[in-house]
Amino acid sequence: MGANEQADSPTISREEILEDHRHVRASLEDLEKHIGQETADEGPWRDHLKGLLSDFEERLKKHFKFEEEGGLFEQLKEEAPRLANRVDKIFADHPAILAQLQKLSGGLSTGPSGMSMSVLIEETSKLITHVREHEAEENDIMMGALWDDVGGRG
Ligand SMILES: [Fe+2]
Repeated sequence: MGANEQADSPTISREEILEDHRHVRASLEDLEKHIGQETADEGPWRDHLKGLLSDFEERLKKHFKFEEEGGLFEQLKEEAPRLANRVDKIFADHPAILAQLQKLSGGLSTGPSGMSMSVLIEETSKLITHVREHEAEENDIMMGALWDDVGGRG
């Protein structure tokens, strides 16, 4: 143990975050499948995308809150200060991801922010890549901290 023992114990575990990541991945796969499907019927296609995005937004909001308020990443920062910058970056990325998602949902409107089907596909694909990279970075941070636990800190 280091000298810093003032951190509150996390209310969530790595396993719980990893389990939640599996749900996020399942949502990403649903989105990916939908944009990969050929369709001649744009109306229902857009409606379905709208539903998927709204479910995904709800899931992500809960997931981010879970990570931000669960204390695990805060504890990692204290225990492994070399990871602190990376934790700060992923937390700052949460609102950026939600903003990207909201812009995309706005793209489904028929108003001025509306997007064509090909742009929707492109933007959804960008969002999927962004979230995948984000989650991979989180997993990597948790694995790095785990490595410290196993190998001893010094
Ligand atoms: Fe995450």
